[in-house]
Amino acid sequence: MFEPNSPHDRTPLAEERQGSVFTQEVAVAGPAKGQFYIESYGCQMNFNDSEIVASVLAETGYQPTSDIDQADLILINTCSIRERAEETVRKRLQGFKKLKRKNRGLLVGVLGCMAERLKSKFLEEEKLVDLVVGPDAYRDLPRLIEKADDGEKGLNVFLSREETYADINPLRLDQNGVTSFISIMRGCDNMCSFCVVPFTRGRERSRDPFTILAEARDLFENGYREATLLGQNVDSYKWENPETGEVVHFAQLLEMVAGVHPALRIRFSTSHPKDITDEVLETIARHHNICKYIHLPVQSGSSRILEMMNRTYDADWYKGRIEAIRRIIPDCSISSDIIAGFCSETEADHQETLDMMRYTHYCMSYMFIYSERPGTLAARKYPDDVPESVKKRRLSEIIELQHELSASHNEADIGKTYEVLIEGDSKRDDQEFKGRNTHNKMVIFPKADGLKAGDYVFVHITSATSATLRGQIVRPD
Ligand code: SAH
Ligand code: SF4
Ligand code: F3S
Repeated sequence: MFEPNSPHDRTPLAEERQGSVFTQEVAVAGPAKGQFYIESYGCQMNFNDSEIVASVLAETGYQPTSDIDQADLILINTCSIRERAEETVRKRLQGFKKLKRKNRGLLVGVLGCMAERLKSKFLEEEKLVDLVVGPDAYRDLPRLIEKADDGEKGLNVFLSREETYADINPLRLDQNGVTSFISIMRGCDNMCSFCVVPFTRGRERSRDPFTILAEARDLFENGYREATLLGQNVDSYKWENPETGEVVHFAQLLEMVAGVHPALRIRFSTSHPKDITDEVLETIARHHNICKYIHLPVQSGSSRILEMMNRTYDADWYKGRIEAIRRIIPDCSISSDIIAGFCSETEADHQETLDMMRYTHYCMSYMFIYSERPGTLAARKYPDDVPESVKKRRLSEIIELQHELSASHNEADIGKTYEVLIEGDSKRDDQEFKGRNTHNKMVIFPKADGLKAGDYVFVHITSATSATLRGQIVRPD
């Protein structure tokens, strides 16, 4: 029923996703307290947060388990981005009732964005929940668990202006040992009118760059070959050294992390069209190990809708940024997030979105139907007035166009040779490897002796579908 997805099958900060952890035996500090099982939903940041939670729990003597029946503590790290994401969590919680009946001492905790949004209401609505913990309160988990063990409910949804978990080394869960994530900031200061994230994640704050560097070095030394820097808006990363007053912006951070090792690839997500600077683009262009791939969500192609969305750019500005990418990084792939059927969207607005997709020629997009979220600016200001059937039809037109664009992108790759980082065996055939090229495209190719996950190879592309490229290993040109 719940396919444990790997977070590596997921790209940017989008979509309702779900996955349970597969964990290796982990050395725990102090006396063994019991076993915890954690299941994550939502964006990559949420998956990365689960690794922070796992680290906090391991420090206090809890051992992770991938077998829910063995767990003394079940944690569910939730997402609120669209209504459906919350419905999925509620259904999942119902499924835990049986387990609770079997094991009276079992604790169930809800973490993440839905915990933050609903706060104590969660404890009233879902009686079986013992703990409700928001994204900035994970250090408090050991105390809250103790409280819950004593029969009280544990609640901490305090949002911090400082917490970045900078000193916590995430316990890498469900990893392929090659690619991993590093959260470089938390929260969001933009107020896109459709979005719940500023309410669930609080104010934007950037993490000390030296702790980011240390984490990247640690990953490399442990065999990882790719790090994705995560933030809701990485381009507004800004850290001021409290001693010297020196300011580090995203371009400088990229430069620093790229310098860890030439064989450590760097990706980042998500970029915001209003904040991505030429300096960032020039830094990407200068470094072979910074991937030539930018996730630059447009949301809509209509300037009128963009204004209502409070995205603070219009269609011309967005096109200007695309031109800058093409000029500074000629061979860069670009992907997007698109919302169909935002409040008052007309057929003409929708056509402008399709036009923008053709203009930018996205290699990939995450595409959604607008879902009104309580408390957001749009929910308060604009009626959700596009009929569901119209939303669905527009979404299917967007999906169909994206399918064509992806297919044409991939066809154009036939005959080219790409450097690919091997991530492991292909899902379908263990005689084949899978890996990604700089453009974040999945490449499948037959294995060759002596190669393993974490190695770089050159692959000549011989065929393509809209989803993957296939090829043969060759010597570099
Ligand atoms: N910080 C990122 C996006 C995070 S949320 C950015 O600004 O690009 C991921 C995506 O979910 C958004 O880009 C948007 O396309 C979508 N999304 C957010 N709220 C939504 C809503 N209420 N209805 C539908 N889609 C939504
Ligand atoms: Fe939401 Fe906008 Fe912030 Fe992205 S930038 S998380 S869409 S408010
Ligand atoms: Fe991420 Fe969902 Fe929260 S997309 S930030 S887990 S609302």
